[in-house]
Amino acid sequence: MCGIVGVLAQGPVAGSIVAALKRLEYRGYDSAGIATLEDGRLQRRRAEGKLKNLEAKLVAEPLGGTIGIGHTRWATHGKPTETNAHPHAARGLAVVHNGIIENFKALREELAAKGFGFATETDTEVAALVVEDEMASGKTPVEAVSAALKRLRGAFALVYLFEGEEDLLIGARQGAPLAVGYGDGEMYLGSDALALAPFTDRVAYLDEGDWVVVTRKGAEFHDAAGKVVQRRVQVSPAGSLLAEKGNYRHFMAKEIHEQPEVVGHTLAHYIDMSAMRLKPFDWPVDPKTLSKVTIIACGTAHVAGLVGKYWIERFARLAVEIDVASEFRYREAPVDPNGLTIVVSQSGETADTLASLKYVKEHGSKTIGVVNVPTSSIARLTDVAAPTLAGPEIGVASTKAFTCQLAAMAALALGLGKARGTLSDAEEATLLAELVSTPALIAEALKLERATEKIAQAVARARDVLYLGRGTSYPLALEGALKLKELTYIHAEGYAAGELKHGPIALIDQAMPVVVIAPHDPVFEKTVSNMQEVAARGGWLILIGETHAKAEAAVEIEHFLPMPEVGANFAPIVYAVPVQMLAYYTAVIMGKDADQPRNLAKSVTVE
Ligand code: M6R
Repeated sequence: MCGIVGVLAQGPVAGSIVAALKRLEYRGYDSAGIATLEDGRLQRRRAEGKLKNLEAKLVAEPLGGTIGIGHTRWATHGKPTETNAHPHAARGLAVVHNGIIENFKALREELAAKGFGFATETDTEVAALVVEDEMASGKTPVEAVSAALKRLRGAFALVYLFEGEEDLLIGARQGAPLAVGYGDGEMYLGSDALALAPFTDRVAYLDEGDWVVVTRKGAEFHDAAGKVVQRRVQVSPAGSLLAEKGNYRHFMAKEIHEQPEVVGHTLAHYIDMSAMRLKPFDWPVDPKTLSKVTIIACGTAHVAGLVGKYWIERFARLAVEIDVASEFRYREAPVDPNGLTIVVSQSGETADTLASLKYVKEHGSKTIGVVNVPTSSIARLTDVAAPTLAGPEIGVASTKAFTCQLAAMAALALGLGKARGTLSDAEEATLLAELVSTPALIAEALKLERATEKIAQAVARARDVLYLGRGTSYPLALEGALKLKELTYIHAEGYAAGELKHGPIALIDQAMPVVVIAPHDPVFEKTVSNMQEVAARGGWLILIGETHAKAEAAVEIEHFLPMPEVGANFAPIVYAVPVQMLAYYTAVIMGKDADQPRNLAKSVTVE
């Protein structure tokens, strides 16, 4: 993941910026750079590869200046070259960026039509040029950034530096984190508090949609509407910074909010965003000769695998068998030595998943591990790693690891389809465009937080809750019920909506909420029929669907969460968010420990 830093100091800043960037190295990167103002003029130094290359450059060509920005780049749009390294410059300004500017192609065309030229292949350059464009009409830097942010879509954090402005940095957060550090007559910006630890332990975090004007005197925060707002300055002891909750009450809330960023990074691992093509993948077995895929996992990772089954069957026309690891490992399943087994695990240490992996390997299957911890036992034992880039997940209930598992499974399913010739180039491009829009849609879905909290007030009074969904929303119904059970201890069941009339419909009464997950996909109308069956029996419906879904259902719906318009194929990546928030807020309202539910362990390394 990219890391960003900004420093307003009393003395030279180049060394401090490099020191802060070193603390962001853990995020992974392939080039780095810094920009400062020397006598008011923008100067940059950038280098491919590790920070030592940038440091060598700074020894050969030192940079003065008491204000500057820095960046470690993890390439998404364009190769990891010096030209594509940040900071990116436009006339009179430079910018560093973490995330994805989703509408960069449209903005490039718009800017090109106005006569702007481009020096790089990156999406970031447009974030610099739109500010230049705004300033060209006479706006101040603050007015220009405020206007430019309205033109950018995607999930990102940005820090801007302006020529001639020795006491001004402007930062913005939309789906990727940004922290402001308070020093003594000095101020800092960074992707996280860890980067700022050498300078200060007093840190404030931007909320979603915020932008901030930073001078040596302090920081003025604005919300998405431009209103000046206060953000709490908190003291973070250096030792606890990796396990930092930021503005959030629980790690789970923080991790839910990190999803636009981490899903974006996971997707960027598999997709060349500039070309809108899948990157080459090192398949351990020729996808063309495959007759079957087996997916094995536990808990939430198993739910991600189940969604993956739908996708692999749909896009790659391959039969997929899926099992929970605790069953698979003991049922003496025949293993096809020409087959492919995909194991999914956040921790990479789950005992049953690890044992199942060893079993299939002993029986000759090639393996792929969709794993979040790259050094884990499962990651090391699988033939090929398909990493999720969720970062450390502290909350026991899996949230961001789940959506990153979905992102990786989607990329694998499309990759298998492409390699097997069941997807054309045109279909690949269309599906990838839909897939890469999910981080921004997650950011949209996060805006339903207050509405979800209100619904949670009602759910907290229930004894049982039923979750329904069809197609890829069926696994999500399972996930909703699992999240609610583990966090609130309320009994919950997830069902395929079509199965309702085969039994669970007997449970319907006015006391049991029925959560229906109904994106606008090809089975939406079928799900509407199931809602009507519930309503006809006086059931209590909570609908999660697009704005028009409530009217189309034409039944009495007690609670409605109006979701943004999401393409039908990858809806679970976005619909996971309200499902997670509903469980989280119900737990908070009930006074339960959302981060460490009773009886549960984060990593189940025993049988
Ligand atoms: O580390 P893993 O992904 O292998 O863990 C699997 C399950 O233990 C895990 O997903 C569990 O179900 C979570 N508590 C769900 O929130």
